[in-house]
Amino acid sequence: MENRKGALGVLTSGGDASGMNAAIRAVVRAASADGIPCVGIRRGYSGLIAGDTVPLGPRDVDGLLHQGGTHLYTARCKEFMTEEGREKAAKTCERLHLTGVVAIGGDGTFRGLQALSRFGVSTIGIPGTIDNDIACTDYTIGFDTACNTAVEAIDKLRDTMQSHERCSIVEVMGRRAGYLALTVGIASGAIATLIPEVPVDFERDVTEPMRAAKASGRNHHIIIVAEGVGRSAELAEKVRESTGVDTRVTILGHIQRGGSPSARDRLLASEMGAYAVDLFEQGKSNRIVAIQGEVLHDLDIDEALAMKKTVENYSLWTARRVSS
Ligand code: F6P
Repeated sequence: MENRKGALGVLTSGGDASGMNAAIRAVVRAASADGIPCVGIRRGYSGLIAGDTVPLGPRDVDGLLHQGGTHLYTARCKEFMTEEGREKAAKTCERLHLTGVVAIGGDGTFRGLQALSRFGVSTIGIPGTIDNDIACTDYTIGFDTACNTAVEAIDKLRDTMQSHERCSIVEVMGRRAGYLALTVGIASGAIATLIPEVPVDFERDVTEPMRAAKASGRNHHIIIVAEGVGRSAELAEKVRESTGVDTRVTILGHIQRGGSPSARDRLLASEMGAYAVDLFEQGKSNRIVAIQGEVLHDLDIDEALAMKKTVENYSLWTARRVSS
């Protein structure tokens, strides 16, 4: 494939997610293999504004594949939301001969790329967030690892809940989205999973399934609450009052973001990283790499950001059907 002139910058932005390093590695290795110089931009768009960059060759990314977090640091940059900040970032690209930028992150990150593309920089987004809330893709980098981490933690909690015949309310991350909670709920055998996309009916969703399970001989319960629903302590109080079951709350928090990426996240990150470089080489801009039905493809960022993700009815049905 013919190389375009200039270098390719890579950055991570927004909340870190396991597999971001694997994506950085893939971008650097794929670009280097085709003779394209690569530059790491540190601390997301803040680094692009400040010109905080580091040259990256294939050997600089050795040992990154299995590491959680992001080697390039990450940030949520307010200055980049202003026209002035964006102009400064575009000037950095000009000064460093960066003709392309690959950014790994969530929808805020992609909005940044949209803005940057207007300055003539070729911009490619790779979805990386534990929330899996990007509509155009079935999976985002970091989601699988976060699910596994949460399920592993809940398996441990279950031992204690079972021994003490208690109920455990586990709050998982996801910002305003319930995909992480719903997947974790099914995979951990929760009696109820409460997500922001579905209005909570306490009697239907919590007390009724708990009573039914208790009547059939189950002595412990796990309830998953998405961060977007929140109020877990209040919910625990209600569960205690209405069922008489001793109930405890665990907020999993940031342990869901870190740790070595799962094989699935490493694979997704490697494939998306290499695909992003291909797009750059084809002279494309304002694109997002996505996976649908196990097939990689790309689409326009404007189109991707206009899409709305909905919780699959099938997953909701599964969660309810297999919980009791
Ligand atoms: O977007 C990833 C995420 O972990 C969300 O699930 C959560 O709401 C948010 O980031 C937390 O952000 P911070 O680490 O800045 O507190």
